[in-house]
Amino acid sequence: MIRLSLALTALGMASAALAQTSPPAGSPRLPAAASSAAAPGRAALPERPRQLGLCVACHGEDGRSRAVGTPHIGGQDEAYLRSSLLAYRDGSRRAVAMNGISNALQPADIDALARWYAAQPGFGKEP
Ligand code: HEC
Repeated sequence: MIRLSLALTALGMASAALAQTSPPAGSPRLPAAASSAAAPGRAALPERPRQLGLCVACHGEDGRSRAVGTPHIGGQDEAYLRSSLLAYRDGSRRAVAMNGISNALQPADIDALARWYAAQPGFGKEP
C-alpha cells in the first residue's frame, strides 16, 4: 500500500512537471508569417538548391529514397554528403547513377545540396 501511494505521488509529480512545460493557456501564438516558413517544431530549412530537381526522382526532396537500391540521404552528415558528391564528381567513387549526374554540379551546387539534405529529418524517425 505504501508502495502504491509512493507510485501515485511520483505520478502526480511527473504530471505536474509535464504541465509546467506546456505553454500556459492563452499564450501568444506565432504570427502566421513566421510559422509559414517552416513546419511547426522544425528548424527553418536552408535555401532550396537550384539543382535539387536533378535528385528528387531517386532521393526525394527530403532525402527519403524513392527507388530500390537508392540510399536515404536525408539527415545524413553534411560533410559526408559533400565529400561523397565530390568523389562521384571526380570519379574516385564510382556508381553509374551518380557519376554522370554529379558532373553537372558546380562546387556551390554540391554545398547547397549537402546542406539541404543534411537539414532534412533523418529516415529513422518521423519528421
Ligand atoms: C537515377 C537515380 C539517382 C539520381 C537522379 C541521383 N542519385 Fe544519388 N544515388 C543513387 C544511387 C543508386 C546511389 C548509391 C550509389 C553507390 O552505390 O555509391 C546514390 C548515392 C548518393 C549519395 C551517397 C550516399 C551515401 O550514403 O554514401 C549521395 C550523397 C547522393 N546520391 C546525392 C545525390 C544528389 C545530391 C543528387 C542530385 C544532384 C542525386 N544523388 C541524384 C541514385 C541517384
